Amino acid sequence: MDTLQVIFDALPALLVGLKLTIELTALAVFFGCIIGLFIALARISGIGILKSLAVAYTEFFRGTPLLVQLFMVFFGLPQLIGHPVNAFSVAVVACSLNSGAYVAEIFRAGIQSIERGQMEAARSLGMTYAQAMRYIILPQAFKRVIPPLGNEFIAMMKDTSLVSVIGLAELARTGQLIIATTYRAIEIWLAVALIYLIMTLLISHFFVHRMERRLKTGDHS
Ligand code: ARG
Repeated sequence: MDTLQVIFDALPALLVGLKLTIELTALAVFFGCIIGLFIALARISGIGILKSLAVAYTEFFRGTPLLVQLFMVFFGLPQLIGHPVNAFSVAVVACSLNSGAYVAEIFRAGIQSIERGQMEAARSLGMTYAQAMRYIILPQAFKRVIPPLGNEFIAMMKDTSLVSVIGLAELARTGQLIIATTYRAIEIWLAVALIYLIMTLLISHFFVHRMERRLKTGDHS
């Protein structure tokens, strides 16, 4: 069988794996952004206990391997609650918690990059800290964090391949399974790599470039 035929035959199965990869990445980055925003706000809040908790969260999830976190949730949680947990949910939870730590640092940098005078001006107009954050600081910060968020998106997409250790056949694991029956390692890994590459290029193009352009309209500086 020639190379192209091997790849062609594997494609339907690989695309099923890709679907799982995409779902997982989208959910992880989505929840990661929500978690990250709150952790970032807690960290810059100036409230001692919130700040410490936020620092601890970030250091823990960024400082331990995602692989270990996946095992912790997949095998640890059932021990605590007394019944098995669904692998997909575990993957979403672990990847979101992990992504949240990275996104928190991205948001924190974005918020802190907004000139101090913006907060001072908003407060002097009578806005509360929360209003100033919501209407003045965050909208400006969001624009600045789009490129690093794009990076996080891409990194997470590649790192979801780790969920194969808890039995989920995402794209990379699907490739491995196909090779187990076809013995065509070069062809299949090449196809898997190309699919990842296409996905990351699509993310950087549509997500990052278009969002950046859209958010720029309305900027006069
Ligand atoms: N490779 C790193 C780890 O094993 C990061 C994983 C998650 N990556 C990310 N951008 N959230 O912990």
